[in-house]
Amino acid sequence: MDRDKILLTPGPLTTTRRTKLAMLKDWGSWDSDFNAVTASIRNSLLKVIHGHDTHVVVPLQGSGTFSVEAAVATLVPADGQVLVLDNGAYCKRAAKLTTMMGRKCTMMPFDEAQAVSPAALDEMLTQDASRLPQGTPITHVMMIHCETGAGVLNPLKEIADVCERHGKGLIVDAMSSFAALEIDARTTRFDALVAASGKCLEGVPGMGFVFIRKAVLQACAGRSPSLAMDLYDQYAYMEKTTQWRFTPPTHVVVALHEAIAQFEEQGGQPARLARYTANCQTLIAGMAKLGFKPFLDSAVQAPIIVTFHAPADPQYDFKIFYAAARARGFILYPGKLTQIETFRVGCIGAIGPVEMEQAVHAVALALTDMGIQSAAPAL
Ligand SMILES: Cc1ncc(COP(=O)(O)O)c(C=O)c1O
Repeated sequence: MDRDKILLTPGPLTTTRRTKLAMLKDWGSWDSDFNAVTASIRNSLLKVIHGHDTHVVVPLQGSGTFSVEAAVATLVPADGQVLVLDNGAYCKRAAKLTTMMGRKCTMMPFDEAQAVSPAALDEMLTQDASRLPQGTPITHVMMIHCETGAGVLNPLKEIADVCERHGKGLIVDAMSSFAALEIDARTTRFDALVAASGKCLEGVPGMGFVFIRKAVLQACAGRSPSLAMDLYDQYAYMEKTTQWRFTPPTHVVVALHEAIAQFEEQGGQPARLARYTANCQTLIAGMAKLGFKPFLDSAVQAPIIVTFHAPADPQYDFKIFYAAARARGFILYPGKLTQIETFRVGCIGAIGPVEMEQAVHAVALALTDMGIQSAAPAL
């Protein structure tokens, strides 16, 4: 088989040949041609969220976590407090980096198989207000739009409405949802929203970007305890010079530009959501025929990544299963749940239902290799 392996992971993911070919050229980071590419990307990104009136977008070098950390460091003042709505692994990472940035952080735990609750947040913020003036008030709420740990879709608009009513800033990690799930800045108020090149836009990994609400931007000047992660400084420099502050990941940037061109040609976010939804449905239906059961209820399942229970059969071993699927050209993803054994299959990337059917077939052959008759879990 001479085709590249299909990446059924939440990034890096399978990209088109056109996107890969865009990287076969060298670009000067100060050159006007390259600066025009950066400007075009920033304009397109704002279009995705209808955010030209309300937000600016600031690109940043590094993987997605770098941008999450930069958003917290730039937006939350030293005496602020972040409330993290915790229903999974990426929430815990957000809380850890918030604490490491020296910001006070409180976790609000939810079941990892359920969406976070706007009503519970409302109650928590009401209680927090009644405790004042003692203690540090919560200044910001942080949520993950699609919790990639299990694949749960969290209610962004409803959480944003609660935050707005209570006058709290909202920081959203939309890493694995941006460009696939609808996010409308005209109707959903957030102070920062973070995503990255190598996710649903189907670029390659290497840069993130943060939408910052214009109304809070000026107050962010000088807040970041980090030089490289200061999004205000990156923004101000880019506005003044059209350049990135420090060496940009030039090839990643031009690949993203090409990926966005294809995204727009294909019909933008609604078309991407339709393809990923078809991928997800094809996957779940095909896997069900083999006996696999998704971990999540369909009501909270985002069409981004699906967590499946591991088969109960004693012959099952993820490493062998992974190797057998890999040998057929498909890269699966380990589970991220702590209590039960699972594995994950991504539905995103430059793939369609045909590739998902092939993936299911590869999984069926992997089970045969392992001598497993049914993939039913021990429930
Ligand atoms: C919800 C979420 N947050 C953050 C990240 C960023 O991770 P990384 O820094 O590895 O790109 C990811 C990556 O999959 C993610 O899904």
